[in-house]
Order: sequence, then structure tokens, then C-alpha cells
Amino acid sequence: MILDIMLGVVAAGSLTALCLVSFKLYIKLTTGICYSQVCLRGKTTIVTGANTGIGYQTAIDFAKRGAKVILACRDETKAREAVSEIIKETNNSNVVYKLVDLTSFTSVRKFANDINSSEERLDILVNNAGAGRLGNKLTEDGIAIVMQTNYFSHFLLTMLLVDLMKKHPSRIVNVSAVGASAGKIDFKKLTSFTTEANQYIVTKLCQILFTIEFARRYKNTNITAYSLHPGVIKTEIFRNLSPIFRWFILFLIDTFFKTAREGAQTQIYCAIENGLEKYSGEHFHDCKMVKRYKSARDPSLAEKLWQESERIVKLRSVEDQI
Ligand SMILES: NC(=O)c1ccc[n+]([C@@H]2O[C@H](COP(=O)([O-])OP(=O)(O)OC[C@H]3O[C@@H](n4cnc5c(N)ncnc54)[C@H](OP(=O)(O)O)[C@@H]3O)[C@@H](O)[C@H]2O)c1
Ligand SMILES: *[C@@H]1O[C@H](CO)[C@@H](O)[C@H](O)[C@H]1NC(C)=O
Ligand SMILES: *[C@@H]1O[C@H](CO)[C@@H](O)[C@H](O)[C@H]1NC(C)=O
Ligand SMILES: *[C@@H]1O[C@H](CO)[C@@H](O)[C@H](O)[C@H]1NC(C)=O
Ligand SMILES: *[C@@H]1O[C@H](CO)[C@@H](O)[C@H](O)[C@H]1NC(C)=O
Repeated sequence: MILDIMLGVVAAGSLTALCLVSFKLYIKLTTGICYSQVCLRGKTTIVTGANTGIGYQTAIDFAKRGAKVILACRDETKAREAVSEIIKETNNSNVVYKLVDLTSFTSVRKFANDINSSEERLDILVNNAGAGRLGNKLTEDGIAIVMQTNYFSHFLLTMLLVDLMKKHPSRIVNVSAVGASAGKIDFKKLTSFTTEANQYIVTKLCQILFTIEFARRYKNTNITAYSLHPGVIKTEIFRNLSPIFRWFILFLIDTFFKTAREGAQTQIYCAIENGLEKYSGEHFHDCKMVKRYKSARDPSLAEKLWQESERIVKLRSVEDQI
């Protein structure tokens, strides 16, 4: 009897271990890696939120390929450290940082103006910076802080850089998340705080919709755009979770999911892989194009979001002033 129970326990334990190992193996085997040998010498790239996480790994990759890399960061100390690390690791001295705080449209406009007037070209823009769990604060522009950080500021930034990007074939890469598939946009609450979880998801859905609408509007230009889910990755994105929960999540991710270097692969792929232009507006995961999430399939939603976004960031009036 006791022997039976012991055998049962051993069997169950082995089975669980086997399942966990298989799961880990599955994740490893399906992790997309960008094998492209594309050289980026002579090209200029911007990565937002590039001082840490998958943004940092993306910046290193571009630097290794010989690009000029501009790290768009808000914290000067962290940015300076990241730049010197990248230069040390790649020997590419053409790596710089420029400060931008995505919680402020004024800061975004200043940054874009600086780039537009100082750079000859812009080949790749990776809208990577993102955050969650920032609470129900409003920014100086009166917008829910996560919405502005993850979506509206990137919308404004992109639109202000479009003139520069048009000059040569160029790509915009939006780092979204699979959570967007559960997102639902309430146009009446686009700028106000909803719930913590919902807010993050909606920002990620907005990025996908914007990519779709952008691809439609800019079809016959030099600019193409892509959105993607990078995977589940060990980065600082979980910094605002409660300590115990964060420890648990990071333990799980560490055991089963992606490192930051692995997590950066899909955005690198979207930025450089040859021949992707015909897929402008599409969504990617593990270095492959994937079907659009159901939540992102309505083109009229994408168009409406675009119009609302233009109004909210006051894009027209900015253009009029110039
Ligand atoms: N990690 C995942 O599992 C996962 C899954 C799906 C999608 N993603 C997406 O991947 C992207 C990169 O995230 P990550 O995982 O690499 O996270 P991370 O390590 O936390 O990096 C986020 C970056 O964004 C910057 N940032 C945040 N708020 C900013 C602001 N107001 N102005 C300027 N920069 C700001 C951060 O700068 P500071 O260091 O100064 O705060 C940091 O450089 C995000 O868009 C995220 O939504 C991540
Ligand atoms: C960087 O340059 C130094 C000196 O030119 C050289 O010794 C070193 O091997 C280089 N490192 C890389 C990663 O290319
Ligand atoms: C995403 O891409 C579009 C271009 O396709 C851009 O206009 C938009 O601002 C980007 N960023 C976000 C966060 O959606
Ligand atoms: C960028 O600069 C060009 C000229 O160098 C100018 O025509 C264009 O209006 C500027 N765009 C923005 C958004 O500032
Ligand atoms: C697109 O890029 C090419 C090559 O850099 C350039 O010659 C051309 O003028 C650009 N097209 C437009 C419409 O700006």
C-alpha cells in the first residue's frame, strides 16, 4: 500500500518534471532568432527606451552592424552608461543618446525637432519604450500616464519624424504585446485612466492599429511599418509589481522564457530583414508574421484611432506653426 503511494508520487513527480522540461524545450525551440547578416553602415537608427531591456539589446545589435545609433532615453545617467557599454562592446563610436521624456509632448517635440534638424536621414525608428503600472496619474498634458508613455508620445514622435524618414527607404517598428488581443478601445476614455491592467493592454492595441493605418496612409512612400509581440522576457518591465509577485514572475520567466537578447530578436528582424516591405502594417512574433489579433481586424477602428490621436496630440496645429 505504502509502496503504491510512493510509486504514484514518483510517477506524478516524473510526469510533472517531463512536462516542465518539454515546455522549456518548446519555448527554446520556438524562440525566433534573427539570422540576417544585413550591414547598417551609413544608416541612422533611433531606439526609444534603449538604456535597458530589449531596447538596449536592439541598440547593441544595430551598433554591431555599423549603424549610427541614437538611444532615446529619459534618464541621463542611465543613458550615458548604456552608451559607453555599447561602444565598449561593439567598437562603434557612432552611438549617442538624446534625452526625451515620453510623459511630455513638449519633450517629444523638442527631441523630434533636434533630430529633424541635426540628422541627414533616419532609416529605422524602433518605438520600444514602454511601462505598466504607473498608477492613475495624469501627465502635464492631461493624459493618463501609461497611455501617453506607451502610445500617444510615440504617435507624435513618429509623425514628427516622417518627413525625415521619407527621404530614404525606412522602417518604423512598434513594440506591442500579445495582451493587445484582449484589448478593447473605449473612445470616450482614450485619455483618461481606466483600470491598471486594461490600460496597458489598450496602449498595446493602439500601437497595432496605428501601424495598420499608417501602412495604409503611407503606402506609396519610402516608409513601412511593423508591429510585434516580443515574447515573455526578463527585463525591468515588471519593476512596479509588488516585490513577492515580481520575484515569482521573474523566477518563472528566468526558468522558462526569454532573455532580453532573445526578446529583442523580433524587433531586430522587423527593422532589418530584407524584403519585408510588402508586409508593411503586419504583426510579427518570433521573427515570423502572424495573423492579426481579432481585436485589431476592424480597419475603421484603426482609422478612427488615427483621427482621435491627431486631435489629442494636436498634430495639425504643430504642423501649422512650422
Ligand atoms: N518584457 C516583456 O515580457 C514584454 C512583453 C511584451 C511586450 N513588451 C514590450 O517591450 C518593450 C520594452 O520593454 P522591456 O521589457 O525591455 O522593459 P524595460 O526593461 O522596463 O525597458 C523599458 C524602457 O522604456 C523606458 N521608458 C519608460 N518610460 C519612459 C518615459 N516616460 N520616457 C522615456 N523612456 C521611458 C525605460 O526607461 P527607464 O529605464 O528610464 O525607466 C526603459 O528604457 C515595451 O514596450 C513593453 O511593453 C515586453
Ligand atoms: C575593438 O578595438 C580594439 C582596438 O582597436 C581591439 O583590440 C578589439 O579587439 C576590438 N573589439 C571588438 C569587439 O571588435
Ligand atoms: C507605431 O507605428 C506608427 C506608424 O506605423 C506610428 O505612427 C506610431 O506612432 C507608432 N507608435 C505607436 C506607439 O503606436
Ligand atoms: C523637418 O525639417 C524639414 C527641413 O529640414 C522641414 O521641411 C520639415 O517641416 C521639418 N519637419 C518637422 C515636423 O519639423
Ligand atoms: C525614396 O528613397 C530614394 C532612395 O533613397 C530616394 O531617391 C527617393 O527620392 C525617395 N522617395 C521619396 C518620395 O522621397
